[in-house]
Amino acid sequence: MIVTHLQEGKGMERTLAILKPDCYKRKLTGAVLEKIEKAGFTLVAAKIVKMTKPMAESFYEVHRDKNFFPALVEFMTENRCLVAVIEKENAIEDYRKLMGSTDPAKADSGTIRKEYAESIQRNIVHGSDSPENAIREINFFFSGSELLG
Ligand code: RTP
Ligand code: MG
Repeated sequence: MIVTHLQEGKGMERTLAILKPDCYKRKLTGAVLEKIEKAGFTLVAAKIVKMTKPMAESFYEVHRDKNFFPALVEFMTENRCLVAVIEKENAIEDYRKLMGSTDPAKADSGTIRKEYAESIQRNIVHGSDSPENAIREINFFFSGSELLG
């Protein structure tokens, strides 16, 4: 299956969500998934993944030159993540809104990060930031046969 094809038509869109190691460690995956589902997203695929250092470096390669990159890789590999493909009209933008600002101190009330994140780094969730990155990130974790339906 070609994921590009799934992003076309009727405004239905898929994005990649990661419930990060802090979320998993604090046993908040159920609470966060409930918030995602209550906001109208459908779970298309989900699994638990313990990222290796090369995986985290590759996933966040756009940030390779940032001063926070080593700490980010350390954080993303410290425990398991729950990675999920979620679907909704306008999913990419709407899920970014539901997550809230990267820095929880700046996040709007009602957002996942406002409610649960501890810091700008330990901020509970990831979401794709563009249609191109959503395709890349979905294919990073999931094969075509996991994305049917
Ligand atoms: P994400 O990619 O995880 O969805 O988060 P984002 O778009 O809101 O933020 P981004 O700028 O892409 O940063 C990626 C992740 O790196 C960590 N970070 N730490 N100053 C810092 O210490 C800092 N800045 C960013 C966070 O875990 C952030 O989500
Ligand atoms: Mg980002």
